[in-house]
Amino acid sequence: MSKQTITIPDDFILGAAASAWQTEGWSGKKAGQDSYLDAWYKNDRHVWHNGYGPAVATDFINRYKEDVALMKAAGLTHYRTSINWARFLTDYENVVVDEDYAAYYDRLIDELQAQGIEPMLCLEHYELPAALLEKYDGWGSKKVVELYVRYAEKVFERYASKVTRWFTFNEPIVVQTRVYLDALRWPYEQNTDKWMQWNHHKNLATAKVVKLFRDKGYSGTVGTILNPEVTYPRSSAPHDVKAAEIYDLFFNRVFLDPAIKGEYPAELLALLAKHQVRWEYDDEELSLIAGNRVDEVGINLYYPHRVKAPSRAWNPETPFHPAFYYEHFDLPGRRMNKSRGWEIQPRIIYDMAMRLKNEYDNIPWFVAENGMGIEDEAQFKNAEGQIQDDYRITFIGEHLHQALKARADGANCQGYMLWAFTDNVSPMNAFKNRYGLIEIDLENQRQRRMKKSAHWYRQLRDTHQLTINIDDEEK
Ligand code: BG6
Repeated sequence: MSKQTITIPDDFILGAAASAWQTEGWSGKKAGQDSYLDAWYKNDRHVWHNGYGPAVATDFINRYKEDVALMKAAGLTHYRTSINWARFLTDYENVVVDEDYAAYYDRLIDELQAQGIEPMLCLEHYELPAALLEKYDGWGSKKVVELYVRYAEKVFERYASKVTRWFTFNEPIVVQTRVYLDALRWPYEQNTDKWMQWNHHKNLATAKVVKLFRDKGYSGTVGTILNPEVTYPRSSAPHDVKAAEIYDLFFNRVFLDPAIKGEYPAELLALLAKHQVRWEYDDEELSLIAGNRVDEVGINLYYPHRVKAPSRAWNPETPFHPAFYYEHFDLPGRRMNKSRGWEIQPRIIYDMAMRLKNEYDNIPWFVAENGMGIEDEAQFKNAEGQIQDDYRITFIGEHLHQALKARADGANCQGYMLWAFTDNVSPMNAFKNRYGLIEIDLENQRQRRMKKSAHWYRQLRDTHQLTINIDDEEK
């Protein structure tokens, strides 16, 4: 091991992320404004860890001023959150803006900017209005694509003069994969056709919103935030390599390619046809996707994905699942975050960066989420009650190092954003795994306290120097 100090470029984002539904809480929410998450929580509360969910979350909607002050104290240059579509409107069909909620966003944006923190806003972090899921089957319907674009139009009309960095979705693959592919989340329905239809409509929605933003002549950029899983084959044997390539097609390239290259991979289309996955698309939609590629991508990276060729048969009576072509593989001797059950491998950042550089035109991108969720963090409090999260400092340092190394090697990496700014509510896991620089004390009226890592993050911003221990082989 040796110590190394790396300079962080002046224009490098050192931020943190969150979303509306995971922080704001339902205070002020009107009847009929449930999002998909709210409906899931109401219908299926028992699967949410200790019963916590979006109802109160961190009560950010009432405490944003206190939190923005903490963002400043922790040295954030940027803060990324979402606007909750389900709450931004009171009538989704006629796009009637909820003036109370919209005014809160005006105040939040103004407060962030007054404190020198740049807001980055995402139009959907799973917050599909529940009413549109019920009436139109959500993203399965072209009508919902149209209503989403009209919602985006209202948001831009209101805030595009103040906010210049926009994102269409956060992790657009997640909801339909958990619901329609794996049937692990409410409303539990294994339906591969719907899965692909949702994917396609979200790709189409991104292209339409990019077009809208450009046609209206707003200044700024529109990107999307994806969660490609850096996938390594168990071995270099052709069957393992093929398993990894197919995994990559179904879970990564299905969004990366349309967003950045403007087209679906031919190999993916061939596999969908081979397995009779039915989804509706036409040439006009494909040319919209081709003509309206994103300006940048945010990439959420937490852990490596490892696969091997499958050794078991697929039951032909269940709908096609891409796992026909792969099985998960656990690397013996891997480093683990035991709370989350995820392998720790900072190299995923560098490998993704090189892929974007070499295969995706070196598009501008940044790490939009990366972080470490830890259970029972109160056990790490010192006598003064501050969580001594040295494990998080090491984790961030190692991953940030890979981002800086990639940038030095020519990757167009614009920055690093931690998930998350404060501890917050995750789907199902709720407050089980704590991710924040700031502790939310659920036992004491959600009191906020800076963890050791928040002070360390501040010092990164102040000095623009990252000092870490590096393995000799890493250098
Ligand atoms: C990310 C999501 O992938 O993972 C967040 O964008 C989520 O919304 C985060 O909260 C952590 O999830 P979990 O289940 O580990 O708490």
